[in-house]
Amino acid sequence: MRALVTGGAGFVGRHLCNALLAEGHEVVCVDPIVPRTGGKQPADWPLGNPLDQRGFTFIEEDCRHYFARSTGEHFDYAFHLAAMVGGRLMIDYEPLAVAEDLAIDAGYWRWAEHAKPGKTVYFSSSAAYPIQLQRPEGYRLLREDDIDFTDSLGMPDMTYGWAKLTGEYLGRLAYSRYGMKSVVYRPFSGFGEDQDLTYPFPALTKRIQELESDTVTVWGSGRQMRDFVHIDDCIRCVLTTMDAVDDGAAINISSGRLTSFFELATLMLERIGKRATVEAQADMPEGVFARGGDTTLQEQLGFRPTISLADGVDRVAAALAKTSAPA
Ligand SMILES: NC(=O)c1ccc[n+]([C@@H]2O[C@H](COP(=O)([O-])OP(=O)(O)OC[C@H]3O[C@@H](n4cnc5c(N)ncnc54)[C@H](O)[C@@H]3O)[C@@H](O)[C@H]2O)c1
Repeated sequence: MRALVTGGAGFVGRHLCNALLAEGHEVVCVDPIVPRTGGKQPADWPLGNPLDQRGFTFIEEDCRHYFARSTGEHFDYAFHLAAMVGGRLMIDYEPLAVAEDLAIDAGYWRWAEHAKPGKTVYFSSSAAYPIQLQRPEGYRLLREDDIDFTDSLGMPDMTYGWAKLTGEYLGRLAYSRYGMKSVVYRPFSGFGEDQDLTYPFPALTKRIQELESDTVTVWGSGRQMRDFVHIDDCIRCVLTTMDAVDDGAAINISSGRLTSFFELATLMLERIGKRATVEAQADMPEGVFARGGDTTLQEQLGFRPTISLADGVDRVAAALAKTSAPA
């Protein structure tokens, strides 16, 4: 198989490229390593330099420029991950920088119309779900059909969610009007050993590891809840289910378990072996109140996450301890 991976030098992309290479596929990774994203130069990939592996090509370029100049190269699969994601601060306070995703996705689908990859795997986000289903009153696990392009749509989470919703809609049109096959993934809170420290999971782990006082803070009220899935499970979900859907329909990548940041910090303290009181940092953003994904569809397609939150904490803590240990 020959695969294009846009945004392949980011957190999810690195794991995906590695998994595809491990299966013997040819991978073309297009990524300009945008500042303040999770992108890293291949030489700095914590999982090893992919340029040392057969079948890997790295093109350090904005995918929009690549799309504009690319001439009829064939890909069996195109994994479109390129996006301005950032952490909660960027999503809340720099909505116009994140709106760049609208242009990136429009460029992708125009390219796909002409380049005709065998199939598109489009990385949307759980941020595309209506925020009204994630409020303290009446929240519930989000089901794939809570986004219904045939009728009315709920308000997604900021420009980030809006862009993902639009990207998904373009994929539906690409199938119904142009016959282009695609599948959409809506990852919930993916985390892992080499995630950028602008994300809460590694940031909180590090704060707890380095804790010298008897309190540890979590952003917002600390009561906000997320659905954490380890990156290895995320990638396995994609690779085992991506051929089950062709019409641009979406699949959640979730565990179905909601964990508050108070609970997460308490678990981390326990696993790392520290004692402290967890306090809320009300002046920092917390995003929606409860964002968890229903798992019925994934399970019907044969996927279930296998890495528990406690094991995930241990893995992230061990990796961070290694990188901050004196040489
Ligand atoms: N990590 C998660 O839990 C999660 C959750 C929901 C959705 N997603 C989606 O998965 C994808 C990857 O996310 P991530 O966590 O790896 O983020 P990341 O910030 O680590 O990676 C994004 C990558 O996209 C690259 N990029 C940005 N603009 C680009 C452009 N114009 N052309 C090519 N590359 C460009 C960046 O340089 C970076 O390497 C994104 O589409 C994101 O929305 C991730």
